[in-house]
Amino acid sequence: MMKKTMMAAALVLGATSAIAEPQAEVLHWWTSGGEAKAVQVLMDEFAGRGGVWTDMPVAGGGGDAAMTALRARVLSGNAPTAVQLVGPNIQEWYEEGVLANINDVAIAGNWDALLPEAVANHMKCDGEYCAAPVNVHRINWIWGNAQVLADAGIEMPATWAEFNAAAEKLQGMGITPLAHGGQAWQDATVFEAVAMGIGGADFYRAAFMELDEAALTSDTMIAVFDQLRTLRGFVDDDFPGRDWNLATAMVMNGEAAFQIMGDWAKGEFMAAGLEPGTDFLCAPTPGGGFLYNVDSFAFFAVDGEDKIAGQNLLAELTMGQNFQEVFNLNKGSIPARLDVLLDSFDYCARRSSYDMNVASGNGSLLPSYAHDMALRGAQAGAITDTVTAFFNSDMPSQDAVTALALAIKNSM
Ligand code: BGC
Repeated sequence: MMKKTMMAAALVLGATSAIAEPQAEVLHWWTSGGEAKAVQVLMDEFAGRGGVWTDMPVAGGGGDAAMTALRARVLSGNAPTAVQLVGPNIQEWYEEGVLANINDVAIAGNWDALLPEAVANHMKCDGEYCAAPVNVHRINWIWGNAQVLADAGIEMPATWAEFNAAAEKLQGMGITPLAHGGQAWQDATVFEAVAMGIGGADFYRAAFMELDEAALTSDTMIAVFDQLRTLRGFVDDDFPGRDWNLATAMVMNGEAAFQIMGDWAKGEFMAAGLEPGTDFLCAPTPGGGFLYNVDSFAFFAVDGEDKIAGQNLLAELTMGQNFQEVFNLNKGSIPARLDVLLDSFDYCARRSSYDMNVASGNGSLLPSYAHDMALRGAQAGAITDTVTAFFNSDMPSQDAVTALALAIKNSM
């Protein structure tokens, strides 16, 4: 009798877990036109597999506002099931003991074989998967309005000197050379692209990954700040506080010629129906190298079979071949999975993939500090605070490098 009851209970339990409706509350900051179109692909696939998605978008480029919202949720003991996280943020949350493990999904899906090792490592906590990657974004790009440049007789610049000369010419024609939004993360995005271009990979590594004081205070760093000062002269008066996608819109409508921004900007051009190569142009920022960030979903420890089923489903879909293709066509990035063909992608995405391979071979494939891939939060924040203070004042470059070294020291 007893046995029968237990068997019946087991059957009921089994039945319950088989029909658990996958639930996911997803915190992300994909709220611009291109971003929203991209994340919709995942929502649709999730719904197609019977999942119920509760959306928690927190507007704010670069994710600062989203990360503040996340902290509040975790502190109140009510973490979302899945969160858009990047880089060492993932491991920092893991160290706080609040992440779930999705290693079983990763093993079943053979993720180790499908991902570049560097990408896989960003997704692991103590050797096991705790996050699922959706893409590889290149940060160091220049976007240009094709018509504006053609009218001005300007090619996409290949050196910073060419950029400065082009910008002066455009300024003389009454066109804003550089569309920029004065938000700390956007200042940092431009700064690291200039640093990579002027200093090269070894300098970038020493300064922004090893926090080497000699590199931070070097003549090279002074030259980087000098170029940032020059760029400051090429933005319009209304730049403070402007969102990145509004800066992209300035390039779209010909009010400005260039924007220095990661390739989520391409998602924005595409969402507006513009054609790469015809309406807008892309080129790596001068000096080469490849600065990347990898968007991913990390999963927080939650109770409830439906939520855990939701996490597993989301992890599986995120790494799906179709999703990685369609999402990235909309997002402007390239797939994280190595086996997704780029046949349906444009020349910017192909250039990204090609350059990534070359950079990987010559040691210049490096994580973006500005997008939280290279450093812990406190150190990245210390650099960005200095960069923003510089950009919004007339601080001399020499003072900026002294402030930079000091800010790093104080953040340790
Ligand atoms: C993220 C992108 C996002 C961009 C602007 C970056 O840090 O990686 O996915 O589109 O910020 O919000």
